[in-house]
Amino acid sequence: MSANTGSIKVGDKTVELPVRSGTIGPDVLDIGKLYAQTGAFTYDPGFTSTASCASGITYIDGDEGVLLHRGYPIDQLAEHGDFLETCYLLLYGELPTAAQKSDFDYRITRHTMVHEQMARFFQGFRRDAHPMAVMVGSVGALAAFYHDSTDITDPKQRMIASMRMIAKVPTLAAMAYKYTIGQPFVYPKNDLDYTSNFLNMCFAVPCEDYKVNPVLSRALDRIFILHADHEQNASTSTVRLAGSSGANPFACIAAGIACLWGPAHGGANEAALKMLAEIGTVDRIPEFIARAKDKNDPFRLMGFGHRVYKNYDPRAKIMQKTSHEVLAELGIKDEPLLDVALELERIALNDEYFIEKKLYPNVDFYSGITLKAMGFPTSMFTVLFAVARTVGWIAQWKEMIEDPGQKIGRPRQLYTGAPQRDYQPISKR
Ligand code: ACO
Repeated sequence: MSANTGSIKVGDKTVELPVRSGTIGPDVLDIGKLYAQTGAFTYDPGFTSTASCASGITYIDGDEGVLLHRGYPIDQLAEHGDFLETCYLLLYGELPTAAQKSDFDYRITRHTMVHEQMARFFQGFRRDAHPMAVMVGSVGALAAFYHDSTDITDPKQRMIASMRMIAKVPTLAAMAYKYTIGQPFVYPKNDLDYTSNFLNMCFAVPCEDYKVNPVLSRALDRIFILHADHEQNASTSTVRLAGSSGANPFACIAAGIACLWGPAHGGANEAALKMLAEIGTVDRIPEFIARAKDKNDPFRLMGFGHRVYKNYDPRAKIMQKTSHEVLAELGIKDEPLLDVALELERIALNDEYFIEKKLYPNVDFYSGITLKAMGFPTSMFTVLFAVARTVGWIAQWKEMIEDPGQKIGRPRQLYTGAPQRDYQPISKR
């Protein structure tokens, strides 16, 4: 569609609708007035053809396998920058100067501690709670601890809440981990960079020295960059929808974390690793490929396929390289799961079913192997995704709140229930 309008015929009524163009990517047909003009809604469960907002943060070309943040390709950001630089870029729209970067790093670092009462709040969770359950609860609870930054109409409070969340979510994530393994919480250390501090909070113990391995820290930092934002995915759309009612940002991010938990979204890295372990050895791969192709079997190759990428996920390539780097650094020469993953990828990429359906490895296919090698249990994988995605959620939430045309998100429906009928007294039913 290239003209400035498109038309839709509903019954015998044809209406002209404006077509809006972005800087790159497909045009959109603005159907905002469709109902008023025709009495019809559009029907698109799963939003496969629906743009829910205009956004200047992230661009994806799923056919070409392109991912840009504020115009910068993800591979360049992952190769040359660090995670906080990507955070700055997502939040402010431009890469920081050296002075802006050091000021931003300083401000984030000074917000890493959480209210001491949070530690007591944690004691209310069962010891065996999944850390994502703890994250949904504890991030939501931040609104109760930091009430002074919940007025969303005040730009200053919005920015403080944003900084607080980027800084404190890693602290809560590390606390969620320590809590489930029964170790004492480790306070943030402000002389460490963002990711080294996170590793320290996860793996240090009071009884001995822990030195962060810079290769692992750099690798995890890169993993954070790869997960920082991904335009209007399910959890980001959840954050926007929750925020559209004027809810405070802590509650909105908690909603995003809840959505991320699902195995079709952020839970896929945990599911992918479990699947690789279940396959176990290379000789069992054909059996699982056959199951994935069988229409009567609900099994899917976890870490394969993506709603938007119909090409190799650009993040998966960087993740595969990072995986090799981490295993080499840790001297892991024999990792059967990596052998299974590489062979599975090779077979799937040459199989007619996967080629025809354009199913390629996504970012989660290799992340599980990498995180496992670093020492994280599978239950923490989605938590690490949440740590990284917090900045994306926050940037998208801020963009929405600052949009003068912002409205509450309120989809309509195709009603399939009973038509109107009269109430029957219980004796007559
Ligand atoms: N294994 C086998 N077949 C698959 C897979 C898979 N991983 N993914 C999709 N298919 C098939 C479907 O069976 C369907 O076949 P059909 O047309 O014959 O019915 C076709 O490909 C299209 O699948 P849909 O589910 O309609 O595609 P959708 O865009 O809705 O789903 C999704 C995308 C959810 C990611 C899907 O590919 C999937 O379930 N993958 C596994 C889970 C996963 O890795 N999720 C991570 C996503 S990335 C992220 O959140 C960071």
